[in-house]
Amino acid sequence: MQITLETKPYATLETEALVTYLFEETDPIQGRAAEIDQAAGGLLRKLASAGEVTGKMLEFTLIHSPAGLKAARLLLVGAGKREQFNSAVLRKVSGAALRYLKARSVKQFAFLVREGDATQDSAQAFAEGAITGDFETDKYKTEKKNGKTIDDVRLAGFPDAEKAAGETGLSQGRIVADAQNFARELINEPSNLLTPRILAERAEAMARESGLSVEILDEKRIAELKMGALLSVAQGSAEPPRMMVLTYSPANLKPGAPVIGLVGKAVTFDTGGISIKPSEGMEKMKYDMAGGATMLGVMRALAALKPGVKVICVVPATENMPGGKAQKPGDIQKAMSGKTIEVLNTDAEGRLILADGIHYAKQLGATHLIDAATLTGAIVVALANVNVGVFGTDQAFTDKLLASAKATGEKMWPMPMDEEYREFIKGSFADIQNISSGKGGGATIGAMFIREFVGNSPWIHLDIAGTAWNDDAKPWLAKGPTGVALRTLVHLVLSY
Ligand code: BES
Ligand code: ZN
Ligand code: ZN
Repeated sequence: MQITLETKPYATLETEALVTYLFEETDPIQGRAAEIDQAAGGLLRKLASAGEVTGKMLEFTLIHSPAGLKAARLLLVGAGKREQFNSAVLRKVSGAALRYLKARSVKQFAFLVREGDATQDSAQAFAEGAITGDFETDKYKTEKKNGKTIDDVRLAGFPDAEKAAGETGLSQGRIVADAQNFARELINEPSNLLTPRILAERAEAMARESGLSVEILDEKRIAELKMGALLSVAQGSAEPPRMMVLTYSPANLKPGAPVIGLVGKAVTFDTGGISIKPSEGMEKMKYDMAGGATMLGVMRALAALKPGVKVICVVPATENMPGGKAQKPGDIQKAMSGKTIEVLNTDAEGRLILADGIHYAKQLGATHLIDAATLTGAIVVALANVNVGVFGTDQAFTDKLLASAKATGEKMWPMPMDEEYREFIKGSFADIQNISSGKGGGATIGAMFIREFVGNSPWIHLDIAGTAWNDDAKPWLAKGPTGVALRTLVHLVLSY
């Protein structure tokens, strides 16, 4: 799909559809909408008076052969209240418009920004919405759902003076959204087609293409480095584990600058191990590598956007299987850091592999750490599929991340990590145990466990168990993998 900036007057555009958006207000036909209405002989106002067009969020009105326009169709999309309108809304409107038109066999359209919205930010949000909205999960259907594709999209309403800003926005949006779709494609792969070895190959190929340095540790190297927590999860599987390390180094690195460490959980399938999960819904556990895939996607975007800080990405990958060699409840393992762990539940495996991933990222020089993981069912109970759970040890660092989340339209919510919770993971026979000895607070307990391996570095843990997968399609996004947290993390790194 091609996305370009169009500076010609919108009324002269020959396109299958001209799309614009309206606000929900007493008179939704104002400004540019009033202009279109006038050219169309008062049709928009008539529809608004009749109550058919209100500007309500994602209300669609399709008008064929509109008078006064060269476009074959005019699509009006509700954008909700004007006061609440921002780039996050524009992103949704753009994705939803694309999916609406694609379903109706339209192949190309022009999207007209409203007065005041001809900015770099809007152009970026528009491109992100359109490209992530275009992503489908029909890779393995031999007969594609409809064979429908959008080939060409133009962003209109930019005067010549804003052309450069618009083009920069489009190209940045393209980079971020392509990276998000890269992550979503990996997340959607079934576990038979995406083992830890295959994921590592994909990461390596991406890194080479993007100009990132990359090292893949195989099971032998993982054992030499004494990554006992990762190995303990992997030992029940016929598939060997991998530890991926991708590094982005800026051209002129300032001495004393922070080194960001991104660590992503990549359990390519989580059966629960010997503490096996119920069979209902288990198929979804192919997305238990979403944290790792997201971090790889972040690196892909950073390689193109070239921030001024060094970033080290560490992705531990394994299956969690109940094989004859699998670890069993009560087993005691020694993590790379030297800490001993009582594995009381083999299904709490994400925190085990992150323990070694975090320790290794620190050893490689990361000063500021962020991990992303589909870590707990408890975060789904707490925040459903709406917010990412954010756990942090350094308020300034956490605030910075939350600001990036806000700026990029990703919902995230801070969660507690008081000292009191530490009691719950004190081990009876080893230093710590991998599940709580108390009741409740499951998402925090998971975070507290990971914290044991962080030390004093500023660190943020993102629990994306509820948000990495959409059980139902949204008007702006296909059902399945979301690629959540990628935009926030890219924005955060670029803000240094
Ligand atoms: N991968 C799961 C968490 C998960 C749950 C991800 C739902 C996506 C959707 C994780 O490894 C797990 O099984 N966690 C356990 C921890 C428990 C045993 C302390 C859980 O949340 O039940
Ligand atoms: Zn598990
Ligand atoms: Zn898991």
